[in-house]
Amino acid sequence: MDNKDQGGSPDFLPRLTGSFAIPAAENPTVAMVEAAYRHHGLHWRYINCEVSPEGLGAAVRGARAMGWAGFNCSIPHKVAVIEHLDGLGESATIIGAVNTIVRRDDTLIGENTDGKGFVQAMRTVTDPAGKRVVLFGAGGAARAVSVEMALAGASHITIVNRDTRRGQAVAGLLNERTGAKAEFIPWNGTFVIPGNTDIVINATSIGLYPDIEARLDIDFDSLHPAMVVADGIPNPPRTHLIRTAEARGCRVLDGLQMLVNQGVIGIKYWTGVDVDPGVMHEVLRGLFTEKGAPAREGKGKEEIGIRRLDHVLISIPVGRQEEARRFYADVLGLEEIEGEHPRGAMWFTMGTIQLHIRGEAGSWQSDRHLAFEVANLENARQYLGSKGVGLSYSSAIDGRKRFFFRDPFGNRIELLQYEY
Ligand SMILES: NC(=O)c1ccc[n+]([C@@H]2O[C@H](COP(=O)([O-])OP(=O)(O)OC[C@H]3O[C@@H](n4cnc5c(N)ncnc54)[C@H](OP(=O)(O)O)[C@@H]3O)[C@@H](O)[C@H]2O)c1
Repeated sequence: MDNKDQGGSPDFLPRLTGSFAIPAAENPTVAMVEAAYRHHGLHWRYINCEVSPEGLGAAVRGARAMGWAGFNCSIPHKVAVIEHLDGLGESATIIGAVNTIVRRDDTLIGENTDGKGFVQAMRTVTDPAGKRVVLFGAGGAARAVSVEMALAGASHITIVNRDTRRGQAVAGLLNERTGAKAEFIPWNGTFVIPGNTDIVINATSIGLYPDIEARLDIDFDSLHPAMVVADGIPNPPRTHLIRTAEARGCRVLDGLQMLVNQGVIGIKYWTGVDVDPGVMHEVLRGLFTEKGAPAREGKGKEEIGIRRLDHVLISIPVGRQEEARRFYADVLGLEEIEGEHPRGAMWFTMGTIQLHIRGEAGSWQSDRHLAFEVANLENARQYLGSKGVGLSYSSAIDGRKRFFFRDPFGNRIELLQYEY
């Protein structure tokens, strides 16, 4: 981090930002934000603090006294912090909750970037203006996302939630405070998505680690390829909903994109700098695939010492599914996810990390490739050799050795030494 001022003299006083929440130890925001500060040479720090509800007022006064440029508030302080602030931004006023506090002159102003981050990510896929939205959930995330979607011009929002009181409150809020037309439908059975829906959003906590196989109670056949399907769950990012929607041909948006974008907006509020979301995304992806959602046991995995498998879509020629199933299960030890998958697709899993194989007549692509990170390349070489698979050396990148082989279908499979 740059600790020189512009004249070149030492500056040992970084600008301070951080987070107040409890629990705080599991919150990865500090890793994401400090990676951005480092990448952009910003002489700023982000301090992750565990703050109890009783201590919240004192913590905010402390941040004022120490001249913090701002901070995030997470569970359970998003509403309680408001009484300690000097004002709220427009959407935070409507949402009634704050996740980002910004120092402006000598005042502390509460903003809510959860929904803004979501909409920013959504705009990379489709413009919310004029769209019909079905949104599951009515908690804090659902309020933030639905309000920002409405402010971004969504024309109609259907709130679907188990708890009627909470669901009606969100729909009422949208009708009263935004230009969108909203309705509430109680979620008391398998929900069929109306055919005229443009955007489907999961803003519940279904699918969050550790309950990663949890599924929304919806009729998945009612997801059509013209729909955009978004999930707010960042850990693991490839939820059952995202995988299913993708397999049904929908365009998808995962919760990591929302998390990164709300961070980008927060840093812009504090520092004025537009930071590179790619750096932050990379940090989170690494954390959530290795620590957040640990791999399950699997034959072959131990021998190869696989630590991480990037999700990729690779293709095989139609008619060779059975061969592919044997290869990926027997040689690499991946577990197949049973079930009906459209267009001859197959999914394999190692924990929450999916390999998605698509069978398509005449259009399989050999340029897609898979990359594994392995604990010990030499062990992996010996194991694969015993399965009749020989590895070739490819040049090292960033000093990391790489070997590769081709599967029987022409896809390139790469193995990299895992860095501890
Ligand atoms: N990616 C991001 O940047 C980001 C930001 C904020 C939050 N989030 C995610 O959003 C999720 C929700 O957060 P929140 O603050 O809104 O939580 P919350 O206030 O506790 O609300 C949880 C919501 O999920 C619903 N729900 C939970 N389990 C359910 C089940 N089994 N079946 C049906 N509905 C269920 C609840 O329904 P009832 O009302 O019926 O109980 C409620 O609507 C979290 O998992 C969080 O990870 C992501």
